[in-house]
Amino acid sequence: MKSSVIVLIIVIGLVIMGFYDYGIGEDKGEAKRSPDDRRGKETEMKEIKLPAPAKKGKISLEETLSLRRSVRAFKDDALTEAQISQLLWAADGLNAALETRANRTAPSAGAIYPMELYSMTKDGIYKYNPVSHSLKLIEAGDNRGELAKACLGQGCVKSAPLSIIIIGDYQKCAGKYKDRSKRYVDIEAGHIAQNIHLQAVAMELGSVPVGAFSDEQVKALLKLPDNEDPVYIIPVGRPKQ
Ligand SMILES: Cc1cc2nc3c(=O)[nH]c(=O)nc-3n(C[C@H](O)[C@H](O)[C@H](O)COP(=O)(O)O)c2cc1C
Repeated sequence: MKSSVIVLIIVIGLVIMGFYDYGIGEDKGEAKRSPDDRRGKETEMKEIKLPAPAKKGKISLEETLSLRRSVRAFKDDALTEAQISQLLWAADGLNAALETRANRTAPSAGAIYPMELYSMTKDGIYKYNPVSHSLKLIEAGDNRGELAKACLGQGCVKSAPLSIIIIGDYQKCAGKYKDRSKRYVDIEAGHIAQNIHLQAVAMELGSVPVGAFSDEQVKALLKLPDNEDPVYIIPVGRPKQ
Protein backbone atom coordinates (compact mmCIF):
# COMPACT_ATOMS: atom_id res chain seq x y z
CA MET A 1 0.00 0.00 0.00
CA LYS A 2 1.29 3.40 -0.91
CA SER A 3 2.50 5.47 2.00
CA SER A 4 0.19 8.37 0.98
CA VAL A 5 -2.87 6.04 1.30
CA ILE A 6 -1.70 4.88 4.76
CA VAL A 7 -1.31 8.51 5.86
CA LEU A 8 -4.82 9.26 4.51
CA ILE A 9 -6.33 6.32 6.46
CA ILE A 10 -4.58 7.46 9.67
CA VAL A 11 -5.81 11.04 9.18
CA ILE A 12 -9.44 9.86 8.58
CA GLY A 13 -9.17 7.63 11.69
CA LEU A 14 -7.94 10.51 13.82
CA VAL A 15 -10.70 12.80 12.55
CA ILE A 16 -13.40 10.18 13.34
CA MET A 17 -11.96 9.64 16.84
CA GLY A 18 -11.92 13.38 17.31
CA PHE A 19 -15.62 13.64 16.38
CA TYR A 20 -16.40 10.78 18.73
CA ASP A 21 -14.47 12.41 21.53
CA TYR A 22 -16.29 15.71 21.00
CA GLY A 23 -19.63 13.94 21.07
CA ILE A 24 -21.07 14.93 17.71
CA GLY A 25 -24.86 15.10 17.94
CA GLU A 26 -24.99 15.47 21.69
CA ASP A 27 -24.59 18.43 24.06
CA LYS A 28 -21.14 17.75 25.42
CA GLY A 29 -21.56 20.39 28.11
CA GLU A 30 -24.83 18.79 29.24
CA ALA A 31 -23.17 15.35 29.37
CA LYS A 32 -20.37 16.68 31.54
CA ARG A 33 -22.61 18.60 33.94
CA SER A 34 -23.24 17.01 37.31
CA PRO A 35 -26.85 16.17 38.29
CA ASP A 36 -26.69 19.10 40.72
CA ASP A 37 -25.67 21.50 37.94
CA ARG A 38 -28.53 20.19 35.81
CA ARG A 39 -31.00 20.64 38.65
CA GLY A 40 -29.71 24.19 39.06
CA LYS A 41 -30.27 24.82 35.37
CA GLU A 42 -33.81 23.44 35.43
CA THR A 43 -34.59 25.60 38.45
CA GLU A 44 -33.11 28.64 36.74
CA MET A 45 -35.13 28.06 33.60
CA LYS A 46 -38.48 27.18 35.16
CA GLU A 47 -40.60 30.29 34.70
CA ILE A 48 -44.36 30.02 35.03
CA LYS A 49 -46.29 32.61 33.07
CA LEU A 50 -49.41 33.42 35.09
CA PRO A 51 -52.85 33.96 33.54
CA ALA A 52 -53.99 37.57 33.22
CA PRO A 53 -55.72 38.84 36.40
CA ALA A 54 -59.38 39.86 36.42
CA LYS A 55 -60.05 43.58 36.77
CA LYS A 56 -63.66 43.14 37.89
CA GLY A 57 -64.90 41.22 40.92
CA LYS A 58 -68.17 39.89 42.27
CA ILE A 59 -68.51 41.95 45.44
CA SER A 60 -68.12 45.62 46.29
CA LEU A 61 -65.18 47.10 48.19
CA GLU A 62 -67.58 47.94 51.05
CA GLU A 63 -68.73 44.30 51.32
CA THR A 64 -65.12 43.14 51.14
CA LEU A 65 -64.16 45.44 54.00
CA SER A 66 -67.13 44.35 56.07
CA LEU A 67 -66.11 40.68 55.66
CA ARG A 68 -62.35 40.94 56.26
CA ARG A 69 -61.17 38.87 59.25
CA SER A 70 -57.98 36.96 60.04
CA VAL A 71 -58.44 33.31 59.03
CA ARG A 72 -56.06 30.72 60.48
CA ALA A 73 -57.69 27.39 59.56
CA PHE A 74 -57.55 26.35 55.91
CA LYS A 75 -58.87 23.51 53.78
CA ASP A 76 -56.20 21.36 52.13
CA ASP A 77 -57.15 22.26 48.55
CA ALA A 78 -54.34 23.82 46.55
CA LEU A 79 -55.14 27.20 45.02
CA THR A 80 -55.42 27.36 41.24
CA GLU A 81 -52.92 29.23 39.09
CA ALA A 82 -55.65 31.77 38.35
CA GLN A 83 -56.18 32.38 42.09
CA ILE A 84 -52.44 32.74 42.74
CA SER A 85 -52.17 35.07 39.75
CA GLN A 86 -54.99 37.25 41.06
CA LEU A 87 -53.55 37.47 44.58
CA LEU A 88 -50.04 38.38 43.41
CA TRP A 89 -51.32 40.95 40.96
CA ALA A 90 -53.52 42.49 43.66
CA ALA A 91 -50.56 42.48 46.06
CA ASP A 92 -48.18 44.57 43.97
CA GLY A 93 -48.75 43.86 40.28
CA LEU A 94 -48.59 46.28 37.38
CA ASN A 95 -51.70 48.41 36.89
CA ALA A 96 -50.24 50.80 34.32
CA ALA A 97 -47.73 50.64 31.49
CA LEU A 98 -44.20 49.89 32.65
CA GLU A 99 -42.98 53.18 31.13
CA THR A 100 -45.33 55.08 33.47
CA ARG A 101 -43.39 56.19 36.55
CA ALA A 102 -46.02 54.95 39.00
CA ASN A 103 -47.38 51.60 37.85
CA ARG A 104 -48.28 49.25 40.73
CA THR A 105 -51.39 48.26 42.69
CA ALA A 106 -49.61 49.27 45.93
CA PRO A 107 -48.15 52.75 46.49
CA SER A 108 -44.39 53.12 46.90
CA ALA A 109 -42.46 56.02 48.46
CA GLY A 110 -40.82 57.92 45.58
CA ALA A 111 -41.97 55.13 43.20
CA ILE A 112 -38.77 53.30 44.10
CA TYR A 113 -40.44 49.87 44.39
CA PRO A 114 -38.12 48.25 46.91
CA MET A 115 -40.40 45.24 47.54
CA GLU A 116 -40.25 41.67 46.22
CA LEU A 117 -42.85 38.95 46.56
CA TYR A 118 -42.14 35.27 47.06
CA SER A 119 -44.81 32.61 47.08
CA MET A 120 -44.70 29.22 48.70
CA THR A 121 -46.98 26.27 47.89
CA LYS A 122 -46.61 22.52 48.33
CA ASP A 123 -44.86 22.54 44.93
CA GLY A 124 -42.08 24.95 45.77
CA ILE A 125 -40.79 28.42 46.49
CA TYR A 126 -41.22 30.98 43.71
CA LYS A 127 -40.26 34.61 43.11
CA TYR A 128 -42.88 36.85 41.50
CA ASN A 129 -41.93 39.04 38.57
CA PRO A 130 -44.62 41.76 38.31
CA VAL A 131 -43.36 42.97 34.92
CA SER A 132 -43.79 39.63 33.15
CA HIS A 133 -46.50 38.54 35.63
CA SER A 134 -44.70 35.25 36.08
CA LEU A 135 -43.19 33.08 38.78
CA LYS A 136 -39.62 31.86 38.80
CA LEU A 137 -38.94 28.64 40.66
CA ILE A 138 -36.40 29.11 43.44
CA GLU A 139 -36.69 25.64 44.93
CA ALA A 140 -38.99 22.71 44.19
CA GLY A 141 -40.66 20.77 47.02
CA ASP A 142 -42.89 21.39 50.01
CA ASN A 143 -41.15 23.75 52.44
CA ARG A 144 -44.28 24.91 54.26
CA GLY A 145 -43.33 22.96 57.40
CA GLU A 146 -39.95 24.71 57.44
CA LEU A 147 -41.62 28.08 56.98
CA ALA A 148 -44.00 27.30 59.87
CA LYS A 149 -41.00 26.42 62.08
CA ALA A 150 -39.46 29.80 61.19
CA CYS A 151 -42.79 31.37 62.23
CA LEU A 152 -42.53 30.00 65.76
CA GLY A 153 -44.48 26.87 64.80
CA GLN A 154 -47.65 28.66 63.69
CA GLY A 155 -50.07 26.03 62.33
CA CYS A 156 -51.74 28.42 59.85
CA VAL A 157 -48.43 28.75 57.98
CA LYS A 158 -48.05 24.99 57.66
CA SER A 159 -51.62 24.32 56.57
CA ALA A 160 -52.13 27.23 54.17
CA PRO A 161 -51.91 26.10 50.53
CA LEU A 162 -50.23 29.41 49.71
CA SER A 163 -48.09 31.85 51.64
CA ILE A 164 -47.01 35.13 50.11
CA ILE A 165 -43.80 36.39 51.68
CA ILE A 166 -43.30 40.14 51.40
CA ILE A 167 -39.65 41.09 51.12
CA GLY A 168 -38.09 44.54 51.48
CA ASP A 169 -34.87 45.90 50.02
CA TYR A 170 -34.00 48.51 52.65
CA GLN A 171 -30.78 49.51 50.83
CA LYS A 172 -32.68 50.34 47.66
CA CYS A 173 -34.96 52.69 49.56
CA ALA A 174 -32.12 54.17 51.67
CA GLY A 175 -30.45 55.47 48.50
CA LYS A 176 -33.08 58.20 48.44
CA TYR A 177 -34.71 58.22 51.87
CA LYS A 178 -31.73 57.54 54.16
CA ASP A 179 -32.92 56.87 57.73
CA ARG A 180 -36.62 57.08 56.74
CA SER A 181 -36.17 53.98 54.57
CA LYS A 182 -36.89 51.43 57.34
CA ARG A 183 -40.23 53.08 58.03
CA TYR A 184 -41.10 53.44 54.35
CA VAL A 185 -40.34 49.83 53.45
CA ASP A 186 -42.35 48.54 56.43
CA ILE A 187 -45.30 50.78 55.56
CA GLU A 188 -45.17 49.60 51.96
CA ALA A 189 -45.33 46.00 53.14
CA GLY A 190 -48.54 46.93 54.96
CA HIS A 191 -50.08 48.31 51.78
CA ILE A 192 -49.23 45.11 49.92
CA ALA A 193 -50.53 42.93 52.74
CA GLN A 194 -53.87 44.74 52.86
CA ASN A 195 -54.25 44.37 49.09
CA ILE A 196 -53.82 40.61 49.53
CA HIS A 197 -56.29 40.41 52.43
CA LEU A 198 -59.00 42.30 50.54
CA GLN A 199 -58.43 40.40 47.30
CA ALA A 200 -58.63 37.13 49.25
CA VAL A 201 -62.02 38.09 50.73
CA ALA A 202 -63.31 39.10 47.29
CA MET A 203 -62.39 35.59 46.08
CA GLU A 204 -64.03 33.87 49.06
CA LEU A 205 -60.61 32.99 50.43
CA GLY A 206 -59.18 33.67 53.88
CA SER A 207 -55.82 35.08 54.97
CA VAL A 208 -53.92 36.18 58.06
CA PRO A 209 -50.99 38.58 58.46
CA VAL A 210 -48.01 36.93 60.14
CA GLY A 211 -45.35 39.15 61.66
CA ALA A 212 -43.97 36.68 64.21
CA PHE A 213 -41.04 34.89 62.58
CA SER A 214 -37.27 34.58 62.62
CA ASP A 215 -35.88 36.91 59.95
CA GLU A 216 -32.72 34.80 59.66
CA GLN A 217 -34.57 31.49 59.22
CA VAL A 218 -36.96 32.86 56.59
CA LYS A 219 -34.08 34.54 54.79
CA ALA A 220 -32.12 31.28 54.67
CA LEU A 221 -35.14 29.23 53.57
CA LEU A 222 -35.89 31.59 50.69
CA LYS A 223 -32.19 31.92 49.79
CA LEU A 224 -32.57 35.68 49.85
CA PRO A 225 -29.65 37.87 48.73
CA ASP A 226 -28.02 40.06 51.42
CA ASN A 227 -30.02 43.17 50.47
CA GLU A 228 -33.45 41.48 50.80
CA ASP A 229 -35.19 40.91 54.13
CA PRO A 230 -38.55 39.33 54.96
CA VAL A 231 -41.07 41.82 56.37
CA TYR A 232 -44.44 40.09 56.43
CA ILE A 233 -45.92 36.68 55.59
CA ILE A 234 -49.49 36.19 54.40
CA PRO A 235 -50.86 32.63 54.42
CA VAL A 236 -53.93 32.28 52.17
CA GLY A 237 -56.41 29.48 51.55
CA ARG A 238 -60.00 28.36 51.53
CA PRO A 239 -61.38 28.89 55.04
CA LYS A 240 -62.23 25.76 57.00
CA GLN A 241 -65.70 26.49 58.36
C1 LIG B 1 -48.21 43.58 62.35
C2 LIG B 1 -49.11 42.40 62.63
C3 LIG B 1 -48.54 41.17 62.92
C4 LIG B 1 -49.37 40.06 63.14
N1 LIG B 1 -48.78 38.83 63.34
C5 LIG B 1 -49.57 37.76 63.50
C6 LIG B 1 -48.97 36.48 63.65
O1 LIG B 1 -47.76 36.31 63.65
N2 LIG B 1 -49.83 35.42 63.78
C7 LIG B 1 -51.18 35.54 63.76
O2 LIG B 1 -51.87 34.54 63.88
N3 LIG B 1 -51.76 36.76 63.62
C8 LIG B 1 -51.00 37.86 63.48
N4 LIG B 1 -51.58 39.09 63.28
C9 LIG B 1 -53.05 39.18 63.18
C10 LIG B 1 -53.70 39.79 64.41
O3 LIG B 1 -53.63 38.86 65.48
C11 LIG B 1 -55.16 40.12 64.08
O4 LIG B 1 -55.20 41.08 63.05
C12 LIG B 1 -55.92 40.66 65.29
O5 LIG B 1 -56.11 39.65 66.25
C13 LIG B 1 -57.29 41.23 64.91
O6 LIG B 1 -58.08 40.24 64.28
P1 LIG B 1 -58.66 40.40 62.80
O7 LIG B 1 -57.50 40.52 61.85
O8 LIG B 1 -59.45 39.14 62.55
O9 LIG B 1 -59.52 41.62 62.74
C14 LIG B 1 -50.78 40.20 63.08
C15 LIG B 1 -51.34 41.45 62.78
C16 LIG B 1 -50.52 42.53 62.53
C17 LIG B 1 -51.15 43.85 62.17
